[in-house]
Amino acid sequence: DDVAEMRDMLRNARRIVGFTGAGISTECGVPDFRSPGSPWLKFPPIEFGEFVSSPAARQEAWRRKFAMDDIYGHAKPGRGHRALAHLVSVGRMSAIITQNIDNLHQASGVAPSRIIELHGNGAYARCLDCGLRHELADIRARFEATGEPPVCASCGGIVKTATISFGQAMPEREMLRAQAVAMDCDVFLVVGSSLVVHPAATLPLIARQSGARLVILNRDPTPLDEAASLVVNADIGDALEPLAQLN
Ligand code: OAD
Ligand code: ZN
Repeated sequence: DDVAEMRDMLRNARRIVGFTGAGISTECGVPDFRSPGSPWLKFPPIEFGEFVSSPAARQEAWRRKFAMDDIYGHAKPGRGHRALAHLVSVGRMSAIITQNIDNLHQASGVAPSRIIELHGNGAYARCLDCGLRHELADIRARFEATGEPPVCASCGGIVKTATISFGQAMPEREMLRAQAVAMDCDVFLVVGSSLVVHPAATLPLIARQSGARLVILNRDPTPLDEAASLVVNADIGDALEPLAQLN
């Protein structure tokens, strides 16, 4: 079947690049964006322009962030994360490009140098002006005491989670690295992404144009299914778990 074919392809590959979306984390209790029942469908995301121009939007964004962290912030890596971490550790997977901000690839023990965070990381915050890193615990304590959205202690600038919002520029270094690894693999493995958000979703096509086989492991169909060598509509944890034994 498809799952067996995927495992064979991965066993025979020399250099795999993983490309992950929210679907790899659903078994960890972190909801994805577009599946039925997702909390993200209930309220539209606060876009970057709004965040920057409106203190009320910033306050709402931080309120949501801390509420979400209370519910999902204790998630642990799942079978998909562990399988990919194993493939990296045995030298079969050269990099994991992730759209996720949940920090679970990092928590699964993958060296930070092997992880490309396309949409940033939700585990800390940064000043939009001077780039200074701020810790969430500090921001939260002050937010809860004053009700005011945080400003940078160093320059007075606006502080935002270190994630990329709609309307915000993609991180340049990460995009360049992602393009480079996509052009240098023989299998490009998509795991748990609807592949509708660009420019992230152009990376599978870059890999394909550079000669890689494109494998898409996702429960639901994606717009890139027709470009893929293999589409596997299966549960991620079930499908990837056996790969954690591969050497
Ligand atoms: P989506 O929610 O769009 O897609 C997740 C995909 O994972 C869906 O197509 C599901 O079918 C699949 N899925 C969920 N659980 C699964 C499981 N256990 N086994 C197999 N498949 C499963 O999430 P992303 O593609 O990651 O961007 O979303 C892309 C971007 O849109 C995010 O990075 C975020 C969002 O808005 C920003 O915030 C900038
Ligand atoms: Zn600053």
